Amino acid sequence: MRSQQSSLLGPQLKPIGILGGGQLARMLVLKAHEMGVPVAVLSENDDDPAAQVARQWFPGKLNDREKLASFIKRCRLVTFESEFLDAEVLEALQKETGVDILPRPADMRLIQDRLSQKKLLVDNKLPTSAYLQVDDETQARDAFSELGGRVVFKKRRFGYDGYGTFVVRTPAQLETFLAEFSSIPGREHGFIAEKFIPFKRELAIMVARNAVGKTLHLPFVETLQEDSRCLWVKGPLKTNAKLTALAKSLEKFLKRIGYVGIMGIELFDTGKDLVINELAPRVHNSGHYSLDALFEDQFTIHLKSIMGCDLKPPRLLDKGFAMYNLLGRTDRNPQWRLTNDIKLHWYGKNENRRGRKMGHINAIAVTPEKALAIVKKRAIQDFEL
Ligand SMILES: Nc1ncnc2c1ncn2[C@@H]1O[C@H](COP(=O)(O)OP(=O)(O)OP(=O)(O)O)[C@@H](O)[C@H]1O
Ligand SMILES: [Mg+2]
Repeated sequence: MRSQQSSLLGPQLKPIGILGGGQLARMLVLKAHEMGVPVAVLSENDDDPAAQVARQWFPGKLNDREKLASFIKRCRLVTFESEFLDAEVLEALQKETGVDILPRPADMRLIQDRLSQKKLLVDNKLPTSAYLQVDDETQARDAFSELGGRVVFKKRRFGYDGYGTFVVRTPAQLETFLAEFSSIPGREHGFIAEKFIPFKRELAIMVARNAVGKTLHLPFVETLQEDSRCLWVKGPLKTNAKLTALAKSLEKFLKRIGYVGIMGIELFDTGKDLVINELAPRVHNSGHYSLDALFEDQFTIHLKSIMGCDLKPPRLLDKGFAMYNLLGRTDRNPQWRLTNDIKLHWYGKNENRRGRKMGHINAIAVTPEKALAIVKKRAIQDFEL
C-alpha cells in the first residue's frame, strides 16, 4: 500500500474523484468541502444531487471507458457511491493511470455479485444464511426443498431496495416465482437462493479501515425495512458480548482482506444469533444518522480512510439517535415545515416519485426510542411528499 499516512491536505491538490452523482456522492462532496479537500464528480446530468454541490463536475456515463479514463487521470484518488460498476474496467484503469481506486475494484467485484459475496463471507468464517446457486428452474426447485421450503431468491447482480429479491415461503409461491422466472430482467446473471431467516429485527453496522491498516466501527443500529426499503434507523444498540465479538471479527475481516474505506453491513437478529445479510463496499443509508449523532460522520470517515488519515471511533453526541428516510409518496413537488428538533438532509432530486429517497431527517435524544418518536412525528406531520 502506498504511504499516504497523515498526508497533508490542501486546496491546491488534485481532487478526489467520485464516481456517481446521487445522494451518497452529494454527502461525500459536502463533507470533503468541510475538510478543504478538493473533489470532482463524474455523473450523467448537471442537476444530479452531487453535481449541484461540486465545483468540479464532469459529464459522463459510468460505463463509458474513455470518460472514466480521462476523469481518473485528473484525480489524486478515486472512490464511488455504487458497487455496480464494471470492476474489471476500473481495475485496468487503475493500472493504466497509476491512480488508486478505493475501495479496491477487486473488493467491488467480489461484493457486487451475491454469489461471490456469500463465498467471501463463508471463507472468512462470518455468519450468513445457507445458500445455493440457482441458474435454472430445476435448481430453483431443488434449492427450495434443500433449504427447507422457505427461501429468498436474489438476483446475483444489480439488486437494490428489494428489486431483485423474491421471498418464497410456500409451494404455491414457488410456482408463481417460476412462472415469472424467465422474464425477470437481469436473470441471465443468475440467482442465489438463501434460507429464509425468521428474524426478530434487522441491524446494521459501519466498519472502516484506512490505507495504513487502522480500523474502527460505529455503533450497531436497528433498521426497519418497509417493502424491502429502509424506512428508519435507531440506535445505539446496547452492546453485549455477541455484538462486541461480531464487530471485532468484522474489523479483522477488513484487515485480512486489506480493504480500504468504509463498509456497510446489514444483519438479521433472530434473538439467538446474528446473521449477516449483505455487505456494501461504501457509505450506506443505515449510517446517515452519523451526520448528526456522532462527532464524525460516515462520509468523513470514508474520506479519511481512503486518504490514509488516522481513524478514531467518534464520540456519540447524545444517548439516542434516529434517522427517517423521506420517501416520495406522489409525483407532486414536495413541501415541508422545518422545526429545530430535527436536522434535514435534502438531496435535491429533480423529480419526486413514489418510493424515491428524496432526503432524510435525523434527531438525537436521551433514548433511541425518543429520537425515533421525534423523526416519525416530523416525517408524517411536516413533510408533504
Ligand atoms: N434470507 C432472508 N431471510 C429473511 N428476510 C430476508 C432475507 N434476505 C432478505 N430479506 C428481507 O429482504 C430485504 C431486502 O433484502 P436485501 O437487503 O438482501 O436486498 P436488496 O434489495 O439488495 O437491498 P439493499 O437495497 O439493502 O441492497 C431485507 O432487508 C430483509 O428484510
Ligand atoms: Mg439490503
